[in-house]
Amino acid sequence: MWTVTRFDEIDSTNAALKRMVDAPHGTVLSASRQSAGRGRLGRSFSSPHGVYFSVLLRRTEPPTELLHLTAMTAVAVRRAILDACGIATEIKWVNDILLCGKKLGGILVEGCDGRYIVGIGINCNTDPNDLPPDVQAMAATIVCDEARLISALVARLREMDELLLSARAQWMAEYAANCVTLGKPVQLVRADERTEAFALGVDENAALLVRYADGQTAAVSSGEASVRGLYGYL
Ligand code: BTN
Repeated sequence: MWTVTRFDEIDSTNAALKRMVDAPHGTVLSASRQSAGRGRLGRSFSSPHGVYFSVLLRRTEPPTELLHLTAMTAVAVRRAILDACGIATEIKWVNDILLCGKKLGGILVEGCDGRYIVGIGINCNTDPNDLPPDVQAMAATIVCDEARLISALVARLREMDELLLSARAQWMAEYAANCVTLGKPVQLVRADERTEAFALGVDENAALLVRYADGQTAAVSSGEASVRGLYGYL
């Protein structure tokens, strides 16, 4: 049984769910505004108004079997936005949801000891002027009924949770088909180091398969590096 609690404002739906140590599988917190939204790599996530959504998944598999969770979440989010708003989005490896090449949303999965908090932020009915200038420059927003989008997220994430292991190949194929990073030159960003490479594909663990300038190939995990396009955000 999944339950949804909605807030006008909260610090962070991920942080709040983390504090709810006894919350059952399928507990969803959703807020219209976050005062301390969190992004990947310890960054903050600007959350002036939008759909900020987290669900707790209690999974017993070893973490090494769930490396594709963020990627499958991206597919679920993409499907939910299509269902609720009729808008087809794209995915930037590994966790960004894009519209027309700009960032519409992001995913932050935080987990340990079988408790995985899947956090999703979508710029829905967001006034771009409320975003910081550096974020605004690369942000996309949509106009959509928020309750409908939240229901669609619940439906698509439940589906993902059920199929997480059994339909992995199909979902990862859908991920790859909608991932704008693939088939392009990219910069791999690791701490202060940037390396140019060509993005060939994603493997079943959602690692990015790349070819370096010297012809060597490698699988790069999202914990190891993020990507930038050679000419800007994409
Ligand atoms: C990123 O793009 O770096 C990931 C952003 C994830 C933001 C969502 S909003 C709901 C949940 N609560 C948070 O504090 N972060 C995630």
